[in-house]
Amino acid sequence: FNVPTPINEPVKGYAPDSPERAELHRELKRLKQLELDIPMHIGGQEVRTGKLQRISPPHDHQHTLGHFHLGEASHVQQAVDAALAARPAWSEMPWEHRAAIFLKAAELLAGPFRARLNAATMLGQSKNAFQAEIDSACELIDFFRYNVQFMREIYELQPQSSPGMWNRLEHRPLEGFVFALTPFNFTSIAGNLPSSVAMMGNVVVWKPANTQIYSAQVLMELFKEAGVPDGVINLVYVDGPTAGSVLFNHRDFAGIHFTGSTGVFQNIWKTIGQNIHKYKSYPRIVGETGGKDFILAHPSAHAKAVATAISRGAFEYQGQKCSAASRVYLPSNLYEEVKGYLVEDLKSFKMGDVEDFSNFINAVINEASFDKLAKYIDGAKADPAVEIIAGGNYDKSKGYFVEPTIIVAKDPKYVTMCEELFGPVLTMHVYDANQFEETLDLVDSTSPYALTGAVFSQDRYAIDLASRRLQNAAGNFYINDKPTGAVVGQQPFGGARASGTNDKAGSILNLLRWVSPRAIKETF
Ligand code: SER
Repeated sequence: FNVPTPINEPVKGYAPDSPERAELHRELKRLKQLELDIPMHIGGQEVRTGKLQRISPPHDHQHTLGHFHLGEASHVQQAVDAALAARPAWSEMPWEHRAAIFLKAAELLAGPFRARLNAATMLGQSKNAFQAEIDSACELIDFFRYNVQFMREIYELQPQSSPGMWNRLEHRPLEGFVFALTPFNFTSIAGNLPSSVAMMGNVVVWKPANTQIYSAQVLMELFKEAGVPDGVINLVYVDGPTAGSVLFNHRDFAGIHFTGSTGVFQNIWKTIGQNIHKYKSYPRIVGETGGKDFILAHPSAHAKAVATAISRGAFEYQGQKCSAASRVYLPSNLYEEVKGYLVEDLKSFKMGDVEDFSNFINAVINEASFDKLAKYIDGAKADPAVEIIAGGNYDKSKGYFVEPTIIVAKDPKYVTMCEELFGPVLTMHVYDANQFEETLDLVDSTSPYALTGAVFSQDRYAIDLASRRLQNAAGNFYINDKPTGAVVGQQPFGGARASGTNDKAGSILNLLRWVSPRAIKETF
């Protein structure tokens, strides 16, 4: 079988008088007037527990968007039972029919679901229209389309045969169910983690972050309308320990597809290790965790290009991307010029709700994140060894607003140069322009993470040197570009060290983790 050649979904511009902007505004208005009652979805049934939890926009925490029904351990058990009941029919379905379901999901999302999912992401996760468009529309459409192509390539991976002997590989789904545990910051990741696993014939129990449930329920409707059969993807809203107490103790636990924090992932790995004797097979553990992503400028870099990469790479979506730049190394010869551009850029950033499309900065995800960021900013204000050159204010009276903030630290190991803050706070260190080589070692050794990083230079020797010395410092390495915005099919995404298992989302390498091949030899 052939499959449609995938192309990356074009990004819509949402220009002031465009039809897409008018439609998105209508959808935002419509959603804001509803107070949704959001059930779990288990085996195709909507499940309501009556234990209601309120959902509000992070930029307007007094407004109620709806309530979701909180589940308990028995619901997780029901989700496992429903998944296992759906498994025989789903795993035996010929792959081209599974592929067709997700190609349909791509077209539904490119068309009738686009405004709805973008609006839900904007309101529920406080993401501006452009950031929502590149995430919940384009990236997720790309995941569906490209994953179908990778799926076909996997089934075509076959060994050699010879006359009288036929060897073949059967790319079977895993034996059991897979747990998808998804983050708030990308609706596309929340959609991709369960769907990429399901596509390969597996059944899934999916638990989204509580802060992403508002758009998760739209994703579930999309899956349903595309034709994902009941029980193949089961959506539960429970706290992490409750989910873990059922799933990691189950004999049929076959794997986890995770994006979230390093601490949670390490605990999960430990729990799985402790329970290893309970499982039928060694579970697949695939996780993308944190980052402390760098931008390193060489003395030959263009100051304007460096400043633009910092403004966008550090502050788009309030810095809440695991790929976001959060530590910068600037050579002394470029500092004043880069600083000038940055201060100007940050002054021009408007901050506020998502309905005013001119707001570049919206709120951070919740109060816990706000309080943590405020604590680091206060720490910097009180420390004479560091200087705040832009931002530094925060206010949670209406929404969780933190100004884009730039700290300049003399000490390259200052706390915010090392720890992941996951917000719009960037730290810069200015190095002696003659010490580029020493700075490479510093970049490599300062953080346990290795997700993304960018080097800026016009000197090919310097680029080559940085690329070699930093070969393990980032799974996604950018030359003269910002370290965010990986595109499916173009820059497979993921990192090693404390950043994850580096199973590259948006590539065949990730889908290969969700099959368990059987090698068959037949002689005649
Ligand atoms: N893939 C996203 C990026 O590259 C992060 O998850 O920005």
